Amino acid sequence: MACRDIAAAVASLLIVVLLLVVGGGGVTGAIRADSMIRRPSSSIPTFREAPAFRNGEECASASRVDVAMTLDANYLRGTMAGVLSILQHTSCPESVSFHFLAAGMDADLAAAVRATFPYLDLRVYRFDPSRVRGRISRSIRHALDQPLNYARIYLADTLPATVRRVIYLDSDVVVADDIRALASVDLGGHVVGAPEYCHANFTNYFTDAFWSDPALNGTFAGRRPCYFNTGVMVMDVGKWRAGDYTRRVERWMEVQKQTRIYHLGSLPPFLLVLAGDIQAVDHRWNQHGLGGDNVKGRCRGLHPGPISLLHWSGKGKPWLRLDARRPCAVDYLWAPYDLFRPSSPVLEE
Ligand SMILES: *[C@@H]1O[C@H](CO)[C@@H](O)[C@H](O)[C@H]1NC(C)=O
Ligand SMILES: *[C@@H]1O[C@H](CO)[C@@H](O)[C@H](O)[C@H]1NC(C)=O
Repeated sequence: MACRDIAAAVASLLIVVLLLVVGGGGVTGAIRADSMIRRPSSSIPTFREAPAFRNGEECASASRVDVAMTLDANYLRGTMAGVLSILQHTSCPESVSFHFLAAGMDADLAAAVRATFPYLDLRVYRFDPSRVRGRISRSIRHALDQPLNYARIYLADTLPATVRRVIYLDSDVVVADDIRALASVDLGGHVVGAPEYCHANFTNYFTDAFWSDPALNGTFAGRRPCYFNTGVMVMDVGKWRAGDYTRRVERWMEVQKQTRIYHLGSLPPFLLVLAGDIQAVDHRWNQHGLGGDNVKGRCRGLHPGPISLLHWSGKGKPWLRLDARRPCAVDYLWAPYDLFRPSSPVLEE
């Protein structure tokens, strides 16, 4: 490991030296300098083009699967890997439609996805951060306070009426199975399906202010509330709209603004509205926590059992740890889906 680090350091040093030498004069130097000036004008990384994934004959009558993700410069590499993983493992890739929610009018982000997946059926929607900004209260983790984190609440209001059911995925997942299997789970009349974890102690997600307020602390009465991770959800969009779930989640965010009733960001209001009232989906669809328990540098292994989806929730992200040459073992499962093209001008041409 140490040897490889030294070798890599020497290699990058050589590249720098080479650049300095080449850049010292001549036409090639001028061109290279030019391309290096252009690069920082956009903070968006560059990606390889993914191959075209085509439907087989057996897909002639395949129903469409709708997948929603957010689009953000910081997580773009994760989004790209997630999309590639879905296409690679599904039986009918051309029957998967992607819906991306982007904050702002970032045409570059949309262009990057289109250039990477030229054959993809995709739409990009503008998610207006001001819609949620006034309702966000600071959590113990700043990364969770980004408005785009709350975009999942507004999916049903954003997607076209033709979308009946959508799979929402965070941008730090790879799917290692046919997404159609997840899309076709029986929701049993529930508005949301997700893996449930009933051993988690609910007490700790909410504050004393919540548990001691008689107007609030009966919220879970009559339910058996279980934790679920909102990074992987199957949502009945029609039911969500009909039940005005957006407003229900927002109401809890407004309560939080007044009185601090929970610690984290977008998860607790979902739990308050839906915990104990979702369709439990097989745990194989969310091997979460691979980012490492919110403790920097800590690696997590895989839980026992079959795996259909890997989720790097937590602080550590596989692309950052791989780049830093301090990957966790599970990060090598993410690496094959990485379409990122390092911006080394020497290696590029
Ligand atoms: C849950 O956590 C609270 C506070 O940490 C504790 O008092 C309670 O006994 C725990 N409940 C269970 C079922 O472990
Ligand atoms: C709700 O709060 C009241 C007042 O603090 C308390 O007496 C009651 O036991 C609490 N109920 C629950 C379920 O925690």
